[in-house]
Amino acid sequence: MSGALTETRQKFLDPTINKGLYRKGAIHVLDVCVGMGYNTACLMQALNKTNKNIIWWGLEIDQRPISISVNNNKFLSLWSKEVQGVLKSLERNSSWINNKGSGTLLWGDARQTVKLLPENIDFDLIFHDAFSPCKCPMLWSEEFLYVLAERIKPGGQLQTYSSAAAIRASLQRAGLEINSIKPGGSDTQKWSVGTTAKAIKKGPQKPSEDYLIRNLSLMEREHLLTKAAVPYRDPLMNRNIQQILSYRKEEQRKSKLETTSQWKMRWQNMPESITSEPQRNN
Ligand SMILES: C[S@@+](CC[C@H](N)C(=O)[O-])C[C@H]1O[C@@H](n2cnc3c(N)ncnc32)[C@H](O)[C@@H]1O
Repeated sequence: MSGALTETRQKFLDPTINKGLYRKGAIHVLDVCVGMGYNTACLMQALNKTNKNIIWWGLEIDQRPISISVNNNKFLSLWSKEVQGVLKSLERNSSWINNKGSGTLLWGDARQTVKLLPENIDFDLIFHDAFSPCKCPMLWSEEFLYVLAERIKPGGQLQTYSSAAAIRASLQRAGLEINSIKPGGSDTQKWSVGTTAKAIKKGPQKPSEDYLIRNLSLMEREHLLTKAAVPYRDPLMNRNIQQILSYRKEEQRKSKLETTSQWKMRWQNMPESITSEPQRNN
């Protein structure tokens, strides 16, 4: 449990918490793949210490994880009474409302439920925490990521644990500015522990360097020019896992892009962990 919490903080909360997102007004948050609610609970706990309000939306297909959360005292004890109340209300009513704000959880395939989000809401922050692309490619498709990108306010951001070239390249094509989440703690051997994708504001941009995120390294930028960057495609957002994976495999086979193994060889002095991508299977 503490491992999951550390991961949530490192990949989802910390790279967002100090940013201008929290400047004024209510923060609008979309949690794609709510699961047990770690990401949302962690964010709400952090916001409880501020006077910031939150308008929250969540997308999730499976009701079991949140049910497990609210019936597990050890899990609940991680959170304040207010946050526990939010989790319990989500499980019971698929929504919550309190003096910090309100939230609604839409159950079903996120490819469909994303269309039910109110049109007049754009988000300051989107958590994208689906299982890894080989397990759940439908939520990493170029088309789905584009839909999410369109819902981010200028200056807002999408946060994911994925550093996969295909995902970063799709997010870039959707017009977002990509940064790499720096590894920390026990992950220092890794080249990245995720991606921050920002909707760029008009006007001059500051270089994105802080102690948690950085611009993509040369190695990471070259990664986006390899076959690994061939996107997952789901044009009508109705393909199944096998279809998405096999279309991509065929596109990679035909592609003239550099192979990922050639790219790896050029960077071979780097430790193995540098060229492997973070996975999310739990
Ligand atoms: C890695 S877990 C999410 C963990 C979660 N963010 C947390 O903080 O506890 C991935 C979640 O994606 C959900 N999921 C899988 N396919 C989905 C789909 N098509 N639409 C919506 N949710 C989906 C799973 O039910 C699972 O709860």
